[in-house]
This record gives sequence, C-alpha cells and structure tokens, in this order.
Amino acid sequence: MLKVLVLNGPNLGRLGRREPAIYGRATYDDLKAHLIGTGAPLGLDVDVRQSDSEAEMLSWLHEAADGQIPVVLNPAAWTHYSIAVADAVAQVPVVIEVHISNVHAREPFRRHSVVSPYVLGVITGLGLGGYDLALTHIAATQIAADAASATEGDSTS
Ligand code: DQA
Repeated sequence: MLKVLVLNGPNLGRLGRREPAIYGRATYDDLKAHLIGTGAPLGLDVDVRQSDSEAEMLSWLHEAADGQIPVVLNPAAWTHYSIAVADAVAQVPVVIEVHISNVHAREPFRRHSVVSPYVLGVITGLGLGGYDLALTHIAATQIAADAASATEGDSTS
C-alpha cells in the first residue's frame, strides 16, 4: 500500500457545521472515513489529518518531504496568504491542492493561491469529490512510479 497524506487546514474540522450551503452537510469525520474507504481499493493507505495550527501543518509537510509521501492538501485560508505553507509545499515532490468550493466563483481574495505554483495540480469546486479525484490520480501515477523506483533500488544493491 502506498501511503498518502490528506492534509486539511483551518476550519475544515468544522465541516458539516460550517457554512453548509458552501461546504455541504458531511462532517470532517465523514470525510475521513470516506477517504480511507476510497483509498483502500486503489492500493492507498490514506492518513487524513486536520489542523488549525500552522506549525503543526508545517511539521506534517516536512514529514511528507522527508518521507517522499504524496500529499492531497486543502490549505483552506492559508492558501491565500501563507508563504510558510507555500515554502513547505515546495519541498514535497507530489502535492495536489484541493478546494471544496469553487474559489474562483467567490470573493476576489480567494482567487489567488500562494501555494499553487508548487503543486502538481489544483481541483476546486467539486465538493468532497475533489479529494477522491486527487487520490485516484495519485494511485494511477504514483503506485507504478513507486514500484519502479523500488525495483531500481533492488538492482543497484
Ligand atoms: C477552501 C476555500 C478557502 O478559500 C477557504 O478559506 C477554506 C476552504 C475550500 O475548500 O473551498 O477554508 O479551501
């Protein structure tokens, strides 16, 4: 199983209670259980985390950088201003940025992401399904790459 981190920024622990017209009725616990279920048949060991603390998020991104672990990231409000999160994302080889809402159809300040220059791709506005699409892409592209690099390691040892 390929390990994947799904990291969620501030206020996303309040899914279900937070502006349901925008973010839906599913809770963060629902999201977590759903994504673990999505990952298993794809061959992914999905570890879903959420923090309102930027320092904790940075430590998780450093963990992903050091362990070469692919990341699905919803940076929430940090998307729009945190150079510290952007700098940490730049160190992780594979990051897909996900937003539940369509950030381009909302307030102008949400249209700019300081994180996007450092990610593989961005999925925005597809609800919680955006996370599933990101995991599907990681499974399709990274499992084979991971196996190839493991074989390469075998032949050189
Ligand atoms: C969000 C969009 C951000 O603008 C906002 O600050 C969030 C959630 C989304 O998933 O749509 O907290 O990242």
